[in-house]
Amino acid sequence: MKTAPEEIAILDFGSQYSHLIARRFRELGVMSRLYPTNYDLSQIDNLIGVVFSGSPGSLNEQKYPFNPAVFKLKLPVLGLCYGLYLIAKHFGGQVSSNPSGEYGLANLQVGQSILFAGLAGGEVVWMSHSDSVAEAPPTFKVIGSTEHCPIAAIASADESAKIFGLQFHPEVTHTVHGLQILKNFAYKVCGAQKSWSIADWQQQIISQIQEQASGKKVFLLVSGGVDSTVCFALLEKALGPDRVYGLHLDTGLMRQNEVEQVKGSLGQAGFKNLHIRDASQEFLSALAGVFDPEEKRKIIGQLFLDIKDGVSQELNLNPKEWLLAQGTIYPDTIESGGTVHADTIKTHHNRVDRIQQLIASGQLIEPVRDLYKDEVRQLGQLLGLPPKIIWRQPFPGPGLAIRALCSSGQLPLPQEEITDINQQLTRVFNKIKICERLVQEDQIQALPIRSVGVQGDYRTYSCPAALEIKNPDWLKIERFSPQITNLVKKVNRVLLRIDGQKFSLTAAGPVEAAITKKRLDLLRQIDSIVQEEMLKAKLEQDIWQFPVILLPFGIGEKESVVLRPVSSLEAMTARFYPLADNVLQSMVARINQLKKTSFIFFDATNKPPGTIEWE
Ligand code: XMP
Repeated sequence: MKTAPEEIAILDFGSQYSHLIARRFRELGVMSRLYPTNYDLSQIDNLIGVVFSGSPGSLNEQKYPFNPAVFKLKLPVLGLCYGLYLIAKHFGGQVSSNPSGEYGLANLQVGQSILFAGLAGGEVVWMSHSDSVAEAPPTFKVIGSTEHCPIAAIASADESAKIFGLQFHPEVTHTVHGLQILKNFAYKVCGAQKSWSIADWQQQIISQIQEQASGKKVFLLVSGGVDSTVCFALLEKALGPDRVYGLHLDTGLMRQNEVEQVKGSLGQAGFKNLHIRDASQEFLSALAGVFDPEEKRKIIGQLFLDIKDGVSQELNLNPKEWLLAQGTIYPDTIESGGTVHADTIKTHHNRVDRIQQLIASGQLIEPVRDLYKDEVRQLGQLLGLPPKIIWRQPFPGPGLAIRALCSSGQLPLPQEEITDINQQLTRVFNKIKICERLVQEDQIQALPIRSVGVQGDYRTYSCPAALEIKNPDWLKIERFSPQITNLVKKVNRVLLRIDGQKFSLTAAGPVEAAITKKRLDLLRQIDSIVQEEMLKAKLEQDIWQFPVILLPFGIGEKESVVLRPVSSLEAMTARFYPLADNVLQSMVARINQLKKTSFIFFDATNKPPGTIEWE
């Protein structure tokens, strides 16, 4: 009889990164899954270790049931962030709240521990927390600290107990040697043997599809991106082409020439049962006059389903015989509040209410829902899909509708609140000016517009701060951008003004704007300039995604533009990508030449505290 693979269980306290921890162990060749926090872990065969995830909640709220019996299993335990606090409190330490919190990169001084085997003395780690351990439990030793967090890593003093806690997140790629730490935990602490691979996933997914769609056919909305195309290929492989109907909708929200490119590459992939339909008018009318980002997202998600229903009726498909499939991947689920404890950062178009009902009634198949983009790409390679599809940069389902921000033309906050934010920004920036040797004329101010962000596992909807700096230096900006968003709570992004024009930001204000074809066309035109320059500079491999945002803020009717290139591996965290001066200058010169915009900004914000898209 085949024994169950060795497994590391993740108790999910709702962190945006919980699933990423499991994904990292799988990447290391060890099976790993998420479980509810009060799950009876003794039921899992071949369990070799347990991880407590982080959480959007605070320990004092006691929102998440936790069963300390887990320590009786005598298995190795690793607590991350909130998981660290659980360990600290359980064993008699002290946890305290810190009003300003710490989000972003920090330097960890590493002590002696099997968990840190192979690491140097100083390590770059990723922090995202407001609480911290004020006093380690008496039976633990401190094995790591940073400037702002003296107790950043602890371990049970009795080495045979094998209990560890980390304040930072080793699961995100921005913790430079995070994977090594998890590898040490899996192999050196838990004693794992390698036994898991992406080919195992493919087999498991195909069996699941065959089981779920037994005796039925499947309708799939295909965007042309890697996720839905991999699903198409998996469904065809599992069920045969006659049982899979693929529909690509032209939403009118795509970039310049994108629909033609998608048609071309899907054709090249050789799908048998693919159909294309122009639905641009329906999307434009449904979005007319809507300003709120979540409302826009929900309208788009709902409309995809309404159009699919219309097509099914036209084709006389019997609803009892057909299931719906979607290429949802894990970050879509988690950011839509998709696990028991997670906060909703944004409702992805494939996670609206009606989809949740279909999930509950077993009528939705999501073959890659537990995977991350890079795992989906590996599957695409296994399935032999064309590289153009596999390596296409991610593009969100709601398309340019969430990149053309909308505004009623009113200030988003009362003037006094904006003035207060500006005073805080000036105070913080004056200190930064001294530390970073910036010049006196360098300035900062909040823009009267809001965008979505994520801080400590919570959604934020706040104003960006705009910097006007004489001699921008990326190294300095990378250093102080997180300080600004950490210290000024009501600001979630830091923008750098790059248009080089003379108009003053203080002369500008919010511009009334909803989704219209005219605005989308302008955004398409600017986006295609940016894409061309990015390709010319051969940056498409280094830049994970390059959103261009149309910002309803400016002088008169002329709006502004934000360039948001980021590097990332799985979109759960991201770093802004510092473009070389010449690339930036070519982009700016070409956008300025159009004479259709007020200001151009560069988004110098990591995720967190920003998200990759602006809403
Ligand atoms: P954020 O903006 O949350 O985005 O950092 C993470 C990744 O998800 C993409 N994204 C979406 N993809 N439907 C999608 O299929 C959506 O509604 C959606 N919203 C964001 C985003 O482009 C990035 O790659």
